Amino acid sequence: RSQPLVLGIESSCDETGVGVVRGTTLLTNTVSSSMDEHVRFGGVIPEIASRAHLDAFVPTLEQALADAGVGLDEVDAIAVTSGPGLAGALMVGVCAAKALAVATGKPLYAINHLVAHVGVGLLDDRANGRKQELPENLGALLVSGGHTEILRINSIASDVELLGSTIDDAAGEAYDKVARILGLGYPGGPAIDKVARSGNPKAIRFPRGLTQPKYMGSADEPGPHRYDWSFSGLKTAVARCVEQFEARGEEIPVADIAAAFQEAVVDVISSKAVLACREHGIRDVLLGGGVAANSRLRELTGQRCASAGIRLHVPPLDLCTDNGAMVAALGAQLVMAGVEPSGIGFAPDSSMP
Ligand code: KG4
Ligand code: ZN
Repeated sequence: RSQPLVLGIESSCDETGVGVVRGTTLLTNTVSSSMDEHVRFGGVIPEIASRAHLDAFVPTLEQALADAGVGLDEVDAIAVTSGPGLAGALMVGVCAAKALAVATGKPLYAINHLVAHVGVGLLDDRANGRKQELPENLGALLVSGGHTEILRINSIASDVELLGSTIDDAAGEAYDKVARILGLGYPGGPAIDKVARSGNPKAIRFPRGLTQPKYMGSADEPGPHRYDWSFSGLKTAVARCVEQFEARGEEIPVADIAAAFQEAVVDVISSKAVLACREHGIRDVLLGGGVAANSRLRELTGQRCASAGIRLHVPPLDLCTDNGAMVAALGAQLVMAGVEPSGIGFAPDSSMP
């Protein structure tokens, strides 16, 4: 089919998402989040998330179909996140998707959540009314709560190559930990993004991990971590900085620390991503993952890509955090590439690479 109608289901963490696409056109993206139930624990509680998915799935599905104006019988394929994520949470979406596939006889595709985070960038540009075409020499910068990776997309359906990644914490994890240190609550990314706007990013200079010559090497002789990141040292530096203010009995300049921390993260992510793209002939980059919602990351990466002659494709905010549309978007790419459906024999894989 040239423009397959695909239903996408996402349940890997705290969001129950159902999206519908027709080819590269988004029809609807319905999300129900259980985040409110996790906030007081300072992190997502797997058991609570799984139960919330059970409650939310059918209403979310019905809402999505109603919004898209399509019946389940019209759908060409069903796609579901099969990993990585919380095992019990994944199980709910996968079982629901299998049940729908068996009941309707529709083909079912198991989707890698991480590839979906970047594959969502292949949807048409709603804001500018532009059709998306799959560019050649395509890369992706995936920045989420569990991953920070620069990828070369040889084929979105079958061949995604890792060029560089974090060697310790993911960027989103660093945001969440630093937000906790600064008393900004959970989830930390959006909170830091907000307070950083009133801070001075130059007030403090925090370290940029793995940028020393011994790690970087040169284009001809790359060092061991030329395209890799490390954020655990940065988190420790923030903690030490806060301790020093406390020891001196001074008020902690939360906004300045947040801004300086964010500048360190965004600076090193964008500079290494652009370097990896330049040195691999990548001309188009899909930005994806929850941290892709970060205003400063979008701004600085956009500027640096533009200077390097690279096009950065930035999804709208609602498609950055977990959702079903990204699963449907990648599912449609698989259908259009002629990939065989997964059948119903697969199991969720919480640690899928
Ligand atoms: O992709 P995602 O929704 O879940 C994973 O697959 O991990 O990403 C969640 C992460 C969290 O760490 C959250 O703090 C971060 O994305 N995040 C942000 C922003 N919005 C969400 N980080 C920085 N700035 C934001 N505006
Ligand atoms: Zn995610």
